[in-house]
Amino acid sequence: MSGTFLIASGKGGVGKSTLAAGLGAALASLGSSTVILDADIGLRGQDALLGLENQVVYDLLDVISGDCELEQALLPVPRVSGLWLLPAAQFARARALDAKSLRRVIRSLRTEHDFVLIDCPAGIERGFRNVANTGICEPILVTSPDDISMRDAERACSILQEKTEGRPRLIVNRLNADLVHTGEMYSAETVAQTLDCPLLAEIPEDPLVYRALLRHTSFMQLDCPARQAVIRAARRLRGEDVPFPHLGAARSSLWQRLRQLRVREVPSLHDL
Ligand SMILES: Nc1ncnc2c1ncn2[C@@H]1O[C@H](COP(=O)(O)OP(=O)(O)OP(=O)(O)O)[C@@H](O)[C@H]1O
Ligand SMILES: [Mg+2]
Repeated sequence: MSGTFLIASGKGGVGKSTLAAGLGAALASLGSSTVILDADIGLRGQDALLGLENQVVYDLLDVISGDCELEQALLPVPRVSGLWLLPAAQFARARALDAKSLRRVIRSLRTEHDFVLIDCPAGIERGFRNVANTGICEPILVTSPDDISMRDAERACSILQEKTEGRPRLIVNRLNADLVHTGEMYSAETVAQTLDCPLLAEIPEDPLVYRALLRHTSFMQLDCPARQAVIRAARRLRGEDVPFPHLGAARSSLWQRLRQLRVREVPSLHDL
């Protein structure tokens, strides 16, 4: 399987960039050549998340303006063979990007790579619409399980639907299984039913996502529940039928909760 996925949300800060980076690492490690295209013009973040912040010379806008070739702007991600980053411009405005040029770049990337994951800017304004208007991306909507984030996701969803057929696939991020179990937090199924979107993934709130950032590494290098959930999502994108754990359906054991406090590095992503 292959595809071009636009990773969007209504509300900002729900985990789009974190999950795009994680999905990219998982897809590449599963054998799919993958490019993360950072479309967050002016507020790029993927270079830092992927350990490439000092290596950006050319960016997406340089490619579009013809100042460099696509291959010159693509950066191989360290320690993840098969994963590349096409960085966003740091000092530009969203209006510098137009849907037609972006479509050309995406088509060109897809001739060489299996997956293109587009890290979208937050909100439903120009930056988001530029990407949505290409009309060639399958949308993935990220939300956290709260009313505000879901309301904003619904707004983004209706704009995406003008451009693409069907409802976007949904990632519910930052779930706390214990709170879901006691009924204090919506379950991923409830969020998916409320938004009427097919569920792609349920990702737990995981302290190791933050602890990885502090260590200047990725949570995908650590043995943690968020990594396992992201790998399951990547396998679904590759067309595998992967069952959902239904976080919160049962109370997590003391052992599971203690295990989340430990930090263990992993050599490969193939062991799920
Ligand atoms: N599952 C998770 N568990 C714990 N922390 C998380 C999780 N997902 C994301 N985060 C944290 O949430 C914060 C926001 O994430 P991120 O920058 O990926 O969001 P975003 O949607 O891309 O934001 P923006 O809309 O500003 O681009 C980061 O500090 C990230 O480490
Ligand atoms: Mg982001």
